[in-house]
Amino acid sequence: MSGRTVGCPRASLQTNYVAWLEGVRVHEQCRGLGIAGKLNHSLVEWARRKGARVARLSTGSSNLASREHLEKIGFPLMQIFQRLESVRGLRVKPAGVTTSRGSAKTLWNWLTTVPNFIENHAMYSEGWTWYPLTLQTLRKLMSQGRVFTIIRDKKLKACCIFLDEDSALTMGFVAGERGDVVKLARMLRFLMFRKMREKLRVLLPSRSLFVQALVRLGFEKTATILVYEKFLG
Ligand SMILES: CC(C)(COP(=O)(O)OP(=O)(O)OC[C@H]1O[C@@H](n2cnc3c(N)ncnc32)[C@H](O)[C@@H]1OP(=O)(O)O)[C@@H](O)C(=O)NCCC(=O)NCCS
Repeated sequence: MSGRTVGCPRASLQTNYVAWLEGVRVHEQCRGLGIAGKLNHSLVEWARRKGARVARLSTGSSNLASREHLEKIGFPLMQIFQRLESVRGLRVKPAGVTTSRGSAKTLWNWLTTVPNFIENHAMYSEGWTWYPLTLQTLRKLMSQGRVFTIIRDKKLKACCIFLDEDSALTMGFVAGERGDVVKLARMLRFLMFRKMREKLRVLLPSRSLFVQALVRLGFEKTATILVYEKFLG
């Protein structure tokens, strides 16, 4: 195999201080030799040279080889996320849910005070990738119509960030009280019906109380995803 490519990974800067590592693949005949560790090391060095302060990645909890590899190189686990899915759309739009068009700063000030923001480590997901949730990204997501909010008595009560792709909708971040979070999930099931999407995925911190609430709504637990973070100091 000398001189031939036996493995490849990918890295990108999500912001000037966060690098995201993904897609490591090692040729089947060359596994178990620590090549993934070497690839990871070179990505971390690349991220450091680029000025990143942290490097993050994700892997499925069922991917034992990947978890072994990360364990061996001491890449710290940051948070475990539960993925839930529903294929049942709703015909009736729940009341009181609006696409957030107001001031991003006002929403940001509320968001940074709610426990869900901390539980998600100030990140939102698009399925397998987690991105830093900053005021800047929030403003961009709002301008793309990807943020729903619930406001009652002129007060912000809940919000979610979602991604609309051809076949699926993904709720990659949600905050608020349980009842309002359930309403936001129902709103996305209504959108799923109206846009004829095949399914709705929701990513939640695995210990979130919302997991049980969505299971009671008929959502199925479909995967557990581990997100790792290494400080580059
Ligand atoms: C995950 C992967 C990148 C690990 O690469 P690697 O270079 O074999 O990593 P390591 O040599 O550190 O081995 C890691 C673990 O893989 C397992 N492993 C060892 N030999 C193996 C083999 N021949 N085939 C499969 N897995 C093997 C072992 O559990 C090993 O841990 P151990 O050394 O503590 O026993 C590789 O298995 C792979 O390309 N898998 C398919 C793509 C994938 O899942 N990528 C990760 C996406 S998040």
